[in-house]
Amino acid sequence: MAKSDLSKLVALLPSPEAWVNTALQDFERFLQDHASAEKKASGMALSMASHYPDRLDLVSAMVDLAVEELNHYREVMRLLLGRKIGPSADRKDAYVTQLNKQVRKDAEYFLLDRLLVAAVVERRGAERFGLIAKHITDPEMKRFYAAITSSEERHWQLFVQLAWANCATGDIEQRFNELATYENNLVSTLPVAATLH
Ligand SMILES: [Fe+2]
Ligand SMILES: [Fe+2]
Repeated sequence: MAKSDLSKLVALLPSPEAWVNTALQDFERFLQDHASAEKKASGMALSMASHYPDRLDLVSAMVDLAVEELNHYREVMRLLLGRKIGPSADRKDAYVTQLNKQVRKDAEYFLLDRLLVAAVVERRGAERFGLIAKHITDPEMKRFYAAITSSEERHWQLFVQLAWANCATGDIEQRFNELATYENNLVSTLPVAATLH
């Protein structure tokens, strides 16, 4: 697989300072939302695998990813159930909705944009799980969130590499940078809540 030069990509701007405290103050709500995000990430990977049956590298990566995200879902659900808490109803996620609107529907850009939107979403997830790992006091939760952070760090880079390998059209770094700039602005304008986004 061709390698993209990640150093040319627009840097992630840090989440608003209030975010991590808000999430830790209502940690049960955060866990419920985290569980829901993992479940959706697994579903998204499965739908990518179904939509591109001829792209075997993509199918293989998405099958592995679906299983990994579903394992994350199971782990977060175990944390919730250990606290005698069930899952919350899936909510409409304004962050993901706004980013999905940036996906161009033209056949020549659709896959590229889907992969790169997934990359910027995973990159933000990695940053936020990293903030939880850094600030939470419980050592077991610290370890858990540190492990989740490295997975999500790997995932956003995987999506960039898949874009590089599967999308001949357009300048991949330029498009990533447009979407990442949009995402940086979006994160600074959305209300801060005890949810992943
Ligand atoms: Fe995950
Ligand atoms: Fe992920």
